[in-house]
Amino acid sequence: MIRTILLLVSLFALGGCDWMPGKPNPDSKWREASETSDFAILYRQNCLGCHGIGQVVSGSIAMDNPTYLSVVPREVLLNVISNGVPSTAMPGFSAAVGGTLTGEQIEILTNGILAKKPAAQPSPLPPYAADPGDPARGATVFAASCASCHGNTGDGGEKAGSVINPAYLDLVSNQYLRTVVIAGRPDLGCPDFTARTPGKPLSNEEVADVTAWLISNRRNEFGKPHAPAQPPLP
Ligand code: HEC
Ligand code: HEC
Repeated sequence: MIRTILLLVSLFALGGCDWMPGKPNPDSKWREASETSDFAILYRQNCLGCHGIGQVVSGSIAMDNPTYLSVVPREVLLNVISNGVPSTAMPGFSAAVGGTLTGEQIEILTNGILAKKPAAQPSPLPPYAADPGDPARGATVFAASCASCHGNTGDGGEKAGSVINPAYLDLVSNQYLRTVVIAGRPDLGCPDFTARTPGKPLSNEEVADVTAWLISNRRNEFGKPHAPAQPPLP
């Protein structure tokens, strides 16, 4: 009897818990963030809550938006992921700014995002970055290309919400507004620059002008338009 018990105990000890239900899967074991080199895991752990991808929709632009990937330069991706965007919710991920990702992981994210760039791209493509144009002309562009969804004043229509809400405009940079003017939010139903008026893509000038019009709706804490930049003192 004692021998049987001892045998059973030793078998149990030798076998460990491997046969038991609930055995942890080695793939789901907790790892130091710096150990992960898998794009999908890095994206899910660090980006997906704010930037959708595939079937997932999130608050900010999806990182597989085809028009976005057609215009965004690789250096911009590397720089934004490393350093974030000041005064917005976009955090920097490099150790230099207190983030948790290594330079190699930031490369993996950048390459993984760019791997989804479509082979066929709209042509001609507006440049990713440019100075804002003329807000008065931008109002006309808005009326023709955006008001059908966002309402005549931009304050929301039947198909889409406000794009001039000061709380919204406070959350995003001028470049992000330009980015959305170019790439849209197809995941939410906002078409890109080619598809707002079918068959008539926005020209580079129209992209810059409507971006300027969006920016001109920013308000300070007293609800007043931001003062235009002061000319330099003589
Ligand atoms: C076919 C309808 C439609 C048209 C046309 C349209 N939008 Fe949108 N837009 C949407 C929808 C839907 C959203 C998602 C949010 C919402 O429902 O308000 C959106 C969101 C946005 C956002 C916020 C995106 C973000 O990630 O913060 C901006 C900025 C915007 N649109 C600008 C524009 C501009 C500028 C134009 C014209 C050049 C335009 N939209 C034309 C439907 C449209
Ligand atoms: C807490 C939310 C949050 C997280 C997490 C986050 N982002 Fe962002 N991201 C934002 C916001 C908000 C913006 C818009 C910033 C602006 O206004 O310019 C942004 C902007 C960006 C842009 C620039 C878009 C443009 O205008 O060209 C890129 C690229 C980007 N994020 C990539 C990433 C990647 C990759 C990750 C994961 C490593 C990530 N973000 C994690 C919120 C987030």
